[in-house]
Amino acid sequence: MEQLMERSDLEARAEKILLTNLRRGVADWNGKEFSFVVPSLTGYPFQWFWDSCFHAIALTHLDTAQAKAEITTLLSGAQPDGFIPHIIFWEMDKQPDFLARNIVGMTSPYYSATIQPPIIAYAVERVYRATGDTAFRDAALPVLTAFYRWLRYHRDPDDDGLIAVIQPEEAGTDCSPKYDAALGLEELSNQGFIAALRKVYAAYEPLRGDDRRILAADIFHFEDVLVNSIYAFGMRALARLLTEAASDTTSGAASPEQAAAAEEFRREADKTRDALLAKCWDEAAGAFFDLSGVAEQPVKVVTISSLMPLILSDLPRSIVERLVEQWLANPEHFWLPFPLPSVPASDPKFMPGNPRGFIWRGPSWVNTNWFLSHALRGHGYPELADTIVAKTHQAVAMSGFREYYHPYTGEGLGARDFGWTTLILDM
Ligand code: GLC
Repeated sequence: MEQLMERSDLEARAEKILLTNLRRGVADWNGKEFSFVVPSLTGYPFQWFWDSCFHAIALTHLDTAQAKAEITTLLSGAQPDGFIPHIIFWEMDKQPDFLARNIVGMTSPYYSATIQPPIIAYAVERVYRATGDTAFRDAALPVLTAFYRWLRYHRDPDDDGLIAVIQPEEAGTDCSPKYDAALGLEELSNQGFIAALRKVYAAYEPLRGDDRRILAADIFHFEDVLVNSIYAFGMRALARLLTEAASDTTSGAASPEQAAAAEEFRREADKTRDALLAKCWDEAAGAFFDLSGVAEQPVKVVTISSLMPLILSDLPRSIVERLVEQWLANPEHFWLPFPLPSVPASDPKFMPGNPRGFIWRGPSWVNTNWFLSHALRGHGYPELADTIVAKTHQAVAMSGFREYYHPYTGEGLGARDFGWTTLILDM
């Protein structure tokens, strides 16, 4: 194995990136203080929802005060109805340049009208465990409770336990080939993707901000496996936090409503897990598939998302084994020299090299490796987990903290000094 960095060295380099990407100030549009890490100073100069959660988790190893600030800043973007945006444009002077290259669904000039995978309750739990700060926990709980209820009300209109995304960026896996058919992608490139997305945005124009109407219009309606696995995972973290707060006699905030809410989110998480098993699991294929449209057509394309229910600790053993043996640990599919690719090598659309912005179509990402290495450990596969961690570490040592990596060579690709790649500290 090629050289690996010592832990202290890795920490020093991760810290440097998190500090360099740190933005602090007061927003001139709402007078609120912000203190958070941008995913990348060049490509992504604002606060992104799930990136921010990953940054906070990495920061628990380096600077717990900054980890709290990261989360507090994100939670301060919550709207009165509970919604938390996927991008908050804290520094508006950087927006024109960004919007010249990207499209974002908005009803306000200051934040997006869309979501990202709801990992936030787990990030709050991690920061709370690292600090023991009950005031931090108690301040976060009402915001989290409102947010997960918002998701259920606005994004699960058929009440089956699966929330739906209205555009691919909401799942965080933007250009994944699993969306090609639903988007009617004509040209397989980032330009082709943006062109297809523009049509969706145009159709949403009169409906933006009313997600139930958007979902009923059935233009892009995806009950996404990655999003729902994280949704259940997040609600379980929320239920644990609520249970502890409800029985915490030292906390002035403890209440019987918290115990009831804990029960509510435990139940909802089980409902989501059951729906993933009943509606998304395909026994013949041995994989989980997203459901497209109000009619819930399974999208039979295997991607990294198909493995994500592994993050649920109570997934039935036979399903765990099939996902691992048939797909994850199979060199024909996901078990490449630098695992885990976002698309299996067996897929004709697999694109291992530099995708020129056409992302999530082959390279390996550190956030999904973080999720799945922990999941594998939990399901009794420590050697697979160790290999993923060692290979991720090797790629970072060789190529720096990049946005994603070539799954055959470990070459770094995409943005440089990328924030969530510091999750290696938590692996
Ligand atoms: C890309 C990724 C998304 C991430 C964002 C900021 O759009 O697909 O998951 O949140 O960049 O890093």
